[in-house]
Amino acid sequence: MSDLGNQEADLIRRSGAGLITSLYGLFKTLKVFDISNKSAQEVFAKFLNNAQQFLSVYDSVEIQLVGNQFFLNKNKIAVGLAGYDAFNLFADEMAKRGVGTLILSNGFTREEIAGFARIFNDFAVSEQFKDKPFDEFGPAVDGLNLQHIEMRRLIVEETVASSSKLDEDSEVAIFLKTVYIVLQVFESAQKNRKVNLTNAKRAVQKLVSVISEKKKNMITLLRISDLGNYLAFHSVNTAVYAIMIAEKIGLSKLKRSQVGICGLFHDLGMLAVGESIRNHAGPLSADQWGPIWKHPAEGAKMLLRTERIVEAMTRAMQATFYHQMRDDEMGYPQLGQKKEMDVLTRIVKVADAFDAMVHDRPYRNAMTEAQALQELLSLTDTVYERVFIKILANALGVYPVGVSVKLNTGEVGKVHQDNPDLDYQDKPVVRIYADAHGRKIDKVVDLMEKEAGVFKYWIVPFDEKELDLDVSDFISIM
Ligand SMILES: [Fe+2]
Repeated sequence: MSDLGNQEADLIRRSGAGLITSLYGLFKTLKVFDISNKSAQEVFAKFLNNAQQFLSVYDSVEIQLVGNQFFLNKNKIAVGLAGYDAFNLFADEMAKRGVGTLILSNGFTREEIAGFARIFNDFAVSEQFKDKPFDEFGPAVDGLNLQHIEMRRLIVEETVASSSKLDEDSEVAIFLKTVYIVLQVFESAQKNRKVNLTNAKRAVQKLVSVISEKKKNMITLLRISDLGNYLAFHSVNTAVYAIMIAEKIGLSKLKRSQVGICGLFHDLGMLAVGESIRNHAGPLSADQWGPIWKHPAEGAKMLLRTERIVEAMTRAMQATFYHQMRDDEMGYPQLGQKKEMDVLTRIVKVADAFDAMVHDRPYRNAMTEAQALQELLSLTDTVYERVFIKILANALGVYPVGVSVKLNTGEVGKVHQDNPDLDYQDKPVVRIYADAHGRKIDKVVDLMEKEAGVFKYWIVPFDEKELDLDVSDFISIM
């Protein structure tokens, strides 16, 4: 297996550590609290969030103990210092019950987890089964008849294929490889070495293809939170959102790759900002703001040290330098004059702001996608960026208030009120302004409305033409 492949598996292992420690934390919490208790629910939510990152990609999560090492879906999990104790304790607890593998499959419920945790926590092996605890623990769990939790016996000499089973062309592999390449570029930039964009360009070309083929799967990957590598994940996410927007406005593959490179490196200059400032939890002092205001210029300087000057690099320099600039001259760097930004930079600005808003940061909690889109719409006064935000909403299937939508009935309207139920973000209240023939009407429909048990209305994608986009508009600002 190549070095790159190993590194991808490495990243999975690291996100896997969060899942295992949060599951162990949940078991411990349920020793003290009932699942209906507020604290227990918070711990459960944390675990669920971790589990969903994997279950949105795999059908099941297999946590396997071999010796005192954990494997997640056959990938060995690297444990950091922070999780070290929890890992060892959990490994010990599993071994005491003779459990080698725990398999959680999609659809597991809170009650199932709580039931399993109760048996797990209460179990003490009797003298008779001292050497074969699974023979006692297994039937106790079987009695619960859990549909989505399975166990296998611990086999001490069990071997696990050491190589990762990831298919190189899968969207997960392509996504994680891009994260890895960004980390490599970060490393060179930090050591003042020349930046090599060749690998990044290749990775972005793959992203461009996989985004147009498997958009849905890509979107779930963008929800991964890896706080240890926040900047790298944020950079790749920004590239992915930017490529999605670029695709929707009909930009060529070449331009989509270029916007991807711009997304990957727009925040390169943040490396020059100390981690203590980057992860600062409260409001920043004027001194702390200084390096942040400089990060666009620092990033552009780092890109200047690219090995070969190519168009993608000059585009990236522009996006990097201007991505915090605003048309009302409120952003930074302050140049004392209005600067016309190119379309790729404007796309990156929207993608960057959106991704930052939907992830937890030490200084604030994540917004929902609908909240972020709505806030962006309210902050933006430029026509281009408003269009990009709406396009992003459309690509994600999230509909903030004010966005135009088309219904299965052919009617067209604007989102009037979003759905407070996060599971139904695609079912807001819509104020219809045109019927299927384009005639003006005015009525309000709630997309939650059902007839004979089935939803009457749903949102269908607009055609590019209906989005009222004139691609030549964009070409003119390229
Ligand atoms: Fe930035």
